[in-house]
Amino acid sequence: MEMKNIYTPEIADITRIEKMTEIETLYDVKLPGGRDLGHVPGQFVQVSLFGVGEAPISICSSPMAKGLFQMVVRRVGNVTEAIHRLSPGDKVGIRGPFGKGFCTEELEGKDIVFVAAGLGLPPLRSLINTLIDQKNRKKFGRVIILYGAKTQAEFLFNDERASWQSRADVEYHVTVDRATDGWSGHVGVITTLIPDLNLDLGKTVAAICGPPVVYKFAILALHSKGVRDEQIYVSLERRMKCGVGKCGHCQINNIYVCQEGPVFNYGRIRDLKEAIR
Ligand SMILES: Cc1cc2nc3c(=O)[nH]c(=O)nc-3n(C[C@H](O)[C@H](O)[C@H](O)COP(=O)(O)OP(=O)(O)OC[C@H]3O[C@@H](n4cnc5c(N)ncnc54)[C@H](O)[C@@H]3O)c2cc1C
Ligand code: FES
Repeated sequence: MEMKNIYTPEIADITRIEKMTEIETLYDVKLPGGRDLGHVPGQFVQVSLFGVGEAPISICSSPMAKGLFQMVVRRVGNVTEAIHRLSPGDKVGIRGPFGKGFCTEELEGKDIVFVAAGLGLPPLRSLINTLIDQKNRKKFGRVIILYGAKTQAEFLFNDERASWQSRADVEYHVTVDRATDGWSGHVGVITTLIPDLNLDLGKTVAAICGPPVVYKFAILALHSKGVRDEQIYVSLERRMKCGVGKCGHCQINNIYVCQEGPVFNYGRIRDLKEAIR
């Protein structure tokens, strides 16, 4: 059998592009022959453009979506700007899926609270859409989604979030840090949505993803509701190069985030000082 070289990207097609905000765009990516990526929610791929470079990007679609996978890219620098210049029909290099994601079997029977802030929504969306898929929904308890952005202009997945809001089997709460014209909903940082939650502590699990400042305060807010460290999962972002545990760029003490994460049980990493800043 031919060995797959983990450093060699596979050439994939960009089949659809949807601008979501000024700086964030959604991409549908098709691997050769429409092969499934074979990921679990929470994993990432290394996306490359020849002559430009490579960037780790979370997979934001559910593994249940067949024939393609999706990613949201925020334009911040060389690689992500080059990705933003692509058109449908263009090609990208893909390595992965890499890292450890969420174990959906462990979540069966549990109530899951998602704390998704800003660009933290795409990686969690992969898990959300897995749990709320009609084929799966009965296996899980409550699905509670907390979503926050700085303002409405930064909202992602507007149509999809409207569909979550309309579902009786999904509890969806949204907030903005700062109200702008036309906003009549909740105002305040995402952690202000946590105190009002009515949780069954015996079966609650929380998943947090967002900018670095969110983790510490979300964990404190969950603690004050009685949620224990072992019931909290965090998806962490670190500078990465190889994605496969070789270069050390992503290292926190003795942990390689690219291999052992990006999804961690907080009970396991709470003593790693650099993990949550
Ligand atoms: C596991 C993982 C998942 C990620 N998922 C996504 C995703 O779904 N969508 C997305 O848009 N981005 C995601 N990122 C971040 C993305 O990888 C970086 O924004 C990208 O590598 C920047 O590359 P660049 O060449 O465009 O920017 P550069 O030219 O390298 O840098 C431009 C600016 O971005 C900053 N920067 C570079 N890398 C990072 C980083 N890893 N984290 C924070 N700031 C950085 C630099 O300090 C600089 O200010 C993820 C990162 C990791 C590690
Ligand atoms: S990115 Fe190279 S070791 Fe993690």
